[in-house]
Amino acid sequence: MYHDEKMLESIRKVEANREKNTTLEPRRMTAEEKETLLATFHPDYIESEFRTLVIGPNKGEKVPIELSELLQAHSRVKDLKIDLETPDYDVDVLIIGGGGAGSSAAIEAHEKGANVMIVTKLRIGDANTMMAEGGIQAADKPNDSPAIHYVDALGGGHFANKPELLYRLVTEAPEAIQWLSNLGVEFDKAPDGTMITTHGGGTSRKRMHAAKDYSGAEIMRTLRDEVLNRQIPVVDFTSAIELILDEDGKAAGAVLQNMETGEILVARAKTVIIATGGCGRLHYQGFPTSNHYGATADGLILGYRVGAKLLYADTLQYHPTGAAFPEQIFGALVTEKVRSLGAKLINCEGEVFMHPLETRDVSAASIIRECKERGKGVQTPEGQGVWLDTPMIELKNGEGTIEKRIPAMMRMFGKYGIDIRKEPILVYPTLHYQNGGLAISADNMTNVENLFVAGEAVGGIHGRNRLMGNSLLDIIVFGRSAGKNAADKAKSVTLKKLTLAHVDAFEKEIAKAGIETETVSPKLLPDYTRK
Ligand code: FUM
Repeated sequence: MYHDEKMLESIRKVEANREKNTTLEPRRMTAEEKETLLATFHPDYIESEFRTLVIGPNKGEKVPIELSELLQAHSRVKDLKIDLETPDYDVDVLIIGGGGAGSSAAIEAHEKGANVMIVTKLRIGDANTMMAEGGIQAADKPNDSPAIHYVDALGGGHFANKPELLYRLVTEAPEAIQWLSNLGVEFDKAPDGTMITTHGGGTSRKRMHAAKDYSGAEIMRTLRDEVLNRQIPVVDFTSAIELILDEDGKAAGAVLQNMETGEILVARAKTVIIATGGCGRLHYQGFPTSNHYGATADGLILGYRVGAKLLYADTLQYHPTGAAFPEQIFGALVTEKVRSLGAKLINCEGEVFMHPLETRDVSAASIIRECKERGKGVQTPEGQGVWLDTPMIELKNGEGTIEKRIPAMMRMFGKYGIDIRKEPILVYPTLHYQNGGLAISADNMTNVENLFVAGEAVGGIHGRNRLMGNSLLDIIVFGRSAGKNAADKAKSVTLKKLTLAHVDAFEKEIAKAGIETETVSPKLLPDYTRK
């Protein structure tokens, strides 16, 4: 329910133009237009929001200020005496993170017969996977192919995707869907049993498989059941606060901390998989986020301190359509599927100002321009927004479509008295995804021997901008292979003496570089206390 007179006046303009706007075919931007738009309005291009690293494997490269502070901070174990000789846990494969990537890895490592354990700072399933809405891409229809999927993702990623990773992503996608279906994921299907697929921004074919608009929750539910059914040990409410190496510099476990009691524990492992997800709760540049509470880039910090290289850590994804109103859901994800189904982005004058399915970076920048430069945003208590005209969906596809295809959206806004079948909603970009992360080779391993990575903590799969639905896909494809590869590798590992010598070495680097900081990392949880 909108009460603000200015909003109501603007809604009347949206309504007056709705029929015309529904059938309007806005043109796509040219490559040059996109480049100029991004350089001027995308948050990744604001130089003052980045800092150059002065220590560690990516010394000389820029990352967001908030991340640089954590990457160049003190270890949480710096002043602790830790007995590495008598570990509390001794496993083949240690998985840090209990989201979709970690769970997929655990299932496959277990399938290989490895003694595998998940450690997670919240509970299994408290992860961005659970919050993913729109779907998962896979080229499994007759008019599509992995090659077309590859080209779409490569263009969307500004041609920066690592070819060997992107190749695996798209070629293993159809099997990933099959695997999930066999485990019990209920994808949307037509009456004849074929999968219903839709477009996402930047896709040239309809290849988004979905479970309505709670695809991630459906996938996570299934993976979590599988982990629990297999009785894979899950140590929850326990954070990894530092990686452990062996004397040869190979990954060999992690120091853990119980989040409730503060107790320090040691896990020895022949191989380690980082599957800690993203960074939205670092709120780069003050943006709200669509991410879950634990998304604080912990894996990047842990990896960096043992010498693992980062790739594209300076590129973030601002989802174009975060909820801008009401303030109770500020920043929450409004799935791209809303636009796939026909809703268009409209300014305060009731005008369509862009094609609704440009890639995400372009869409976000275009919304920011509409508000900041053209003065055509709608004022909200938190700032500005533009309209996403959801009633268009039913004008285009018939009554009942919204309830059937995007019921979670209907419920989220319905709680605040906004019926998205009848009224448009206000949206603005929200910090959604970490395009970059730890660099891996095609077998998931970092430059640190026996340290593997899967999921959002990986950098390079998506280049400098990810397409919708390729994240749920990458957690499955690279989660599964991380589990298999780490389990295989563990078979030939003989651990040497465990050490935390890298912590002292890093401290020396901090001192030598003259960094004055009291920050300790990883951050583990966001800090929302009033200052
Ligand atoms: O818009 C969405 O549903 C988000 C999907 C994604 O990030 O892949």
